[in-house]
Amino acid sequence: MILSVEKLEKQFGSLKAIDGVSFGIREREIVSLIGSNGAGKTTLVNLISGYLKPTAGRIFFGGKDITYASPFKRIKLGIGRSFQIVHLFEEATVLDNVRTPLFARYGRIKSILWSADSYVDITREAIGILKLFNLYDKKDSPAKELSEGEKKILDVAMAFALKPKLLLLDEPTSGVATHDKFSVMNTIVSAIRKEGISALIIEHDMDIVSNYSDNVLVIHEGRIMAEGKPEDVMQNKEVRETILGIQ
Ligand SMILES: Nc1ncnc2c1ncn2[C@@H]1O[C@H](COP(=O)(O)OP(=O)(O)O)[C@@H](O)[C@H]1O
Ligand SMILES: [Mg+2]
Repeated sequence: MILSVEKLEKQFGSLKAIDGVSFGIREREIVSLIGSNGAGKTTLVNLISGYLKPTAGRIFFGGKDITYASPFKRIKLGIGRSFQIVHLFEEATVLDNVRTPLFARYGRIKSILWSADSYVDITREAIGILKLFNLYDKKDSPAKELSEGEKKILDVAMAFALKPKLLLLDEPTSGVATHDKFSVMNTIVSAIRKEGISALIIEHDMDIVSNYSDNVLVIHEGRIMAEGKPEDVMQNKEVRETILGIQ
């Protein structure tokens, strides 16, 4: 297991948003996290990325106890994330958006006297990432001119540029038009598979989940309701009634 979560709990006042959650993610495995609004999905991702500290339980990453490690430490160890709302530099070009995390990763500071293009290694790596995410043709466009789907892909590409071993993606297709959702997920998942990294993807569209994930984790009121292969989870009676609304 690259990630192990053990009996995790997060209490907000009297509400147990996460209530005794245990699961693991293997190397190269893509796990989807599904559940209704308010089920605890974002809280769980925040606990894994370190933006929140649990009230009980343990989190191990690569065998290391990271339960109370800072978000920065976790990024260094190889946990990357994207957010439900994208965080792009809207005025900057697509290429510059991807170069930014690369400058950070290499601990380089861009001189105002030199153009970013003169940082040849960083530029080459950024272009490789844009090709991997099918954004190369847009490299010189300002990020604000991208479609909603392309913005989501760019956001994931930026998290990817930090070379994570595990990517946490919070609803990578939210806000994307329905007919674009599959192509956005296709692009993101192909890049993840190609690089052989692990991912935990929050998603509420079951069709998307069954196409792209090795395993599905269903969370309901802070607890794991079901977990397993997509086809098995979709046959689970409780999941069908509670989450999918099928009688
Ligand atoms: N910072 C917070 N303070 C208090 N309650 C919170 C906080 N964050 C989330 N919650 C509550 O925890 C529950 C789970 O929220 P969340 O993890 O955002 O759900 P999801 O992402 O599955 O929609 C909700 O009832 C939400 O209102
Ligand atoms: Mg959420």
